[in-house]
Amino acid sequence: MSDIEKDFLARIKSRKARVGVIGLGYVGLPLARVFSQAGFRVLGFDIDPEKVRALGEGRSYIKSVSAGTVQAMRGRGFEATADFDRLDEPDAVLICVPTPLTETRDPDMTYIERTSEAISTRLRKGQLVVLESTTYPGTTEEVCRPILEKSGLR
Ligand SMILES: NC(=O)c1ccc[n+]([C@@H]2O[C@H](COP(=O)([O-])OP(=O)(O)OC[C@H]3O[C@@H](n4cnc5c(N)ncnc54)[C@H](O)[C@@H]3O)[C@@H](O)[C@H]2O)c1
Repeated sequence: MSDIEKDFLARIKSRKARVGVIGLGYVGLPLARVFSQAGFRVLGFDIDPEKVRALGEGRSYIKSVSAGTVQAMRGRGFEATADFDRLDEPDAVLICVPTPLTETRDPDMTYIERTSEAISTRLRKGQLVVLESTTYPGTTEEVCRPILEKSGLR
């Protein structure tokens, strides 16, 4: 195991790792809650300024996550932002953006592609990127990886 991998695992075990969640919808916000409850500081990203504002004010827009839960998350260091320049802050980045079906019933990949581009320009060595969005097998390798590797990192 490389030193970078060892350091990453140590940061996970000690809960020093910061977790980033991109797309704070029905999947992303509950996922952010789980990591926050597990003791990680979570930084959420969304392009919707209303969602970012609501979370910043301790409000929720999803039934399964109460306002009290958002406030408790904030007490444990949870933040929501639309500033994608902050993508270099988390140690792990989880992509939870939409993949609506197109007319031909294939997943619309543009959200995943745009998000991968946004990560790629800020990617730093040692960051873990995980694709959570529902899509076809091979998307991480075939769609995300080539975009992320435009950063020069492998
Ligand atoms: N909702 C479910 O029960 C469910 C279940 C299984 C899988 N999924 C899958 O999970 C993924 C997310 O679904 P969802 O239901 O959470 O969608 P959602 O529409 O509730 O949330 C997606 C969020 O992503 C944000 N977003 C869109 N483009 C963005 C971008 N470029 N950068 C940052 N944020 C962006 C939106 O503003 C929204 O807040 C999809 O692939 C979906 O198929 C959803």
